[in-house]
Amino acid sequence: MIEDWIPVCAIGEVEDGGHRVVDLDGTAVLVVRVGEGFFAIENVCTHDGGDLTGGCIDAGTIACPRHGARFDLATGEALSAPAYEPVATFPVRVDDGNVFVRDNRWD
Ligand code: FES
Repeated sequence: MIEDWIPVCAIGEVEDGGHRVVDLDGTAVLVVRVGEGFFAIENVCTHDGGDLTGGCIDAGTIACPRHGARFDLATGEALSAPAYEPVATFPVRVDDGNVFVRDNRWD
């Protein structure tokens, strides 16, 4: 349903490689821009609970700024140690110049 989508920002408010953090029903979600696309990933590293905010973004991945574990932004898959468990990801929608995320964990 359309009301399930939470507004994040206007596209132009975030530069390539930039991000926003939004609260999705108590879960901090990091919304990252990569080129013309946006990805939404839970802002918690599965290694030791660090924020992913500020992590290096490269080739569709983000590195945790604490110990360097790398995650796929699209799937949340842990790609390198010291993390082995995936991070939750969320659907993103761009509509009329605005970015929205949705919590699909309870679908
Ligand atoms: S808390 Fe993220 S790699 Fe350790």
